Amino acid sequence: MWLTVVPLVIWLLWWWNDIWYGILTATFRSSKGGTKLPPGHMGLPIIGEMFTFLWYFKFLRRPDDYINSKRHKHDDGIGMYRTHLFGRPSIIVFSPAANKFVFRDEERFVLEWPNVEIVGKTSLVAVHGKAHVRIRSFVSRSINQPDALRRIAIVVQPRIISALRSWVERRKIISYNEINKVTFENIGMYFASFEPGPTLDTLDKYFTGLVSGIRSYPLNIPGFAYYHALQCRKKTIAIFKEELEKRNNNDDGSTRPMNDLMDGLMKLKDEEGSQLRENEVLDNIVSILVAGYESTTLATMWAVYYLAKYPKVLQKLREENVSLKKSKTEQLVTSDEMLKMKYTMKVVDETIRLANIAAIVFRTTTKDVQYKGYTIPKGWNVMLWIRYLHTDPENFNDPLSFNPDRWDASMTSGTYQVFGGGSRICVGNMLARLQLAVFLHHLSTGYKWELVNPDAKMKYLSHPKPEDGVEITIEEL
Ligand code: HEM
Repeated sequence: MWLTVVPLVIWLLWWWNDIWYGILTATFRSSKGGTKLPPGHMGLPIIGEMFTFLWYFKFLRRPDDYINSKRHKHDDGIGMYRTHLFGRPSIIVFSPAANKFVFRDEERFVLEWPNVEIVGKTSLVAVHGKAHVRIRSFVSRSINQPDALRRIAIVVQPRIISALRSWVERRKIISYNEINKVTFENIGMYFASFEPGPTLDTLDKYFTGLVSGIRSYPLNIPGFAYYHALQCRKKTIAIFKEELEKRNNNDDGSTRPMNDLMDGLMKLKDEEGSQLRENEVLDNIVSILVAGYESTTLATMWAVYYLAKYPKVLQKLREENVSLKKSKTEQLVTSDEMLKMKYTMKVVDETIRLANIAAIVFRTTTKDVQYKGYTIPKGWNVMLWIRYLHTDPENFNDPLSFNPDRWDASMTSGTYQVFGGGSRICVGNMLARLQLAVFLHHLSTGYKWELVNPDAKMKYLSHPKPEDGVEITIEEL
C-alpha cells in the first residue's frame, strides 16, 4: 500500500499549486469568462518553487539558467511563466515585449513595496497616480536634472579624490567596503550637507538596520528585524528632522541658492505653487537613501572589477579621460564635460548592463489582465526579470562579455531596462550614470590596479557581487 500512497502524495504535493491555481481556481473563474494561465510550474504548497529559485541563485550560481530551464520545458514564445515564489502565486516576465506591456500599465500592474511604513507612506515609492507624479517631479528636479547634476558633480569629487589617495597609501583594499564609505559620505553631502563625522557614522548604522527590515516579517516585537527597522527609521528621521528644523528657523525668505536635496525638497513648488509638507520631505529623503546608496556602491564596484579584467577597455577609457585631465590645482570636472565623454558613457552603460544590480522588479495585478490569450489573475505577484533581458543572447551579442563598443549600434527597443521602465523608471538614473563617470575619470587617469582574486566566486543574493568584495592592489600611474 505504501508503494502506492507515498508516490501519490509526492505527486500531489509537486503539483499542488498548479492544481489549486491552474485547475480549481481557474475552473471557478472560467464560469465568469474563461481563464488560461501562462505556461509553467507552481510547485509545492506554500513553498512553491522557492527551492528551485535558490538552487539556481545560491548553489549553482547561474541565475539566468532558472529562466533557461523554464524556456527549455515550456517555451511558447509569450515571454511569461507562471510560478509560485516568495509565498505568492507569481508570473515571471522576461521578454522585451512582455516587459513593456507590464511597465506601461501602471493601473493594472502596481508597485507595492513590502513594509512600506519603513521607507515612509508619503515617499515616492509608496504613492500612486497623481500623488506619485507630483512627488516625482520634486525629487527629479532636486537630484536628476541638469542644474542638480551640475551641483552634485562638483560636490562629490573632493571625497572621491581623497578616497583614491588613501587607497594607494594602504595599497590593498576591498573595493566594496571603501566605495561604500565614500558613497555614503557623498550622500551625506548632497542630501543634507552633512560633513563626514559622528552624525554620518550614526546615520549609516541606523540605515543598515532600517534596510534589513524592509523584507522582514512584520512583527513589531523587540528582538525582531521589523521592530529594529522601525526604531532605526525613527532615529534616522530624527537626525534629518533636526537639520530641517535648523534650516526652517534660520530661513531668511530664501535668496540662498539650493545646495542639496533637503533644500530642493523644502523649497521647490509644484505647478499650483504648493510645497512638500515636512513629513513628505523626510519620507522622501529616506526612500531616496534606500534606492540610491547600495545601487551606487555596487555599480562603482563592478566598474573597478570589469576594468581590471578588460585592460584594453581601460586603456581606451584612460585615453579619452586624459584629454580632460586638469592641472593639479583645478582637478574637478563638470557634469557637462563628463556627459559628453562618449566612450566613458559607453563604459558606464555597459557596466550597469552587466552588473544587473536590480535583477527583478515587482508589481501586483489590480485586475485580471489578458495577454496573448492568457490570463494574469488579479492579486498575483508579477516579477519583471530584467536581468534576463541583459544576459539573453537574443538581445545582446555575446552578452556576458564586457564590451562598451556594443553601444555603437542602436539597441533593440525594450532590451536595456537597467533602470526599469514606465512611470516608475529610476528617478536617479542620470545621477547614477554621472557619479560613475566622474569616479571613472579620477580612477582611470590617476591609478592602475589589479584584482587580488581574479577567479573569486560570485554571489547573487541579495545582490550580485564577487565574494571577496573585489579586493584590489592599487598604485599611482
Ligand atoms: C546604477 C544604479 C541604479 C540602478 C541600477 C537603479 C535601478 C532602479 C530601478 C530598476 C528602479 C525601478 C524600480 C521599479 O520599477 O519598481 C529604480 C527606481 C528608483 N530609483 Fe534607482 N537605480 C540606481 C540608482 C539610483 C540613484 C543614485 C537614486 C537616487 C539617489 C535612485 C533612486 C530611485 C528611486 C527614488 C526610485 C523609485 C522611482 C519611482 O517609484 O518613481 N536610484 N531604480
